[in-house]
Amino acid sequence: MHMVINESMRLYPPATLLPRMAFQDIVLGDLYIPKGLSIWIPVLAIHHSEELWGKDANEFNPQRFASKSFMPGRFIPFASGPRNCVGQSFAMMEAKIILAMLISKFSFTISDNYKHAPITVLTIKPKYGVQICLKPLDA
Ligand code: HEM
Repeated sequence: MHMVINESMRLYPPATLLPRMAFQDIVLGDLYIPKGLSIWIPVLAIHHSEELWGKDANEFNPQRFASKSFMPGRFIPFASGPRNCVGQSFAMMEAKIILAMLISKFSFTISDNYKHAPITVLTIKPKYGVQICLKPLDA
């Protein structure tokens, strides 16, 4: 379940951009970042980068999270470092409990009416909603 939720948040990170500001001059490799510069960390682009994730970067493949040997910094749905999300563990636990309750009682199929149209309005969301047909497992 952890792998499935991670892969969903890799393809559709709720926070697609993270704003930062340099409080001092910083040298990052070849890059010089002067004090006061506004920086946007492009989470969506990092999560979809073929260079970082391979040719199947746009495919849904939870298996890529099976390995523990994980390159840090390329998966940042909750940001990273001292200002990362304080609700990260709570959010993951909540999602797992809700998913576990749902999949133990229902099977799911996506409705024919579903249109795949993710948009960013502060956070990423499905423009036309997600219409899902639930079938009770014990019916
Ligand atoms: C899927 C759910 C969530 C996602 C994807 C998410 C994502 C994020 C991200 C990316 C940041 C960093 C923003 C930045 O530095 O610019 C952040 C910060 C934060 N999040 Fe979350 N969050 C989630 C759920 C929650 C929940 C459930 C709580 C509280 C119960 C929470 C509380 C916070 C707080 C307080 C911060 C600010 C931390 C700081 O600045 O030190 N988040 N979150």
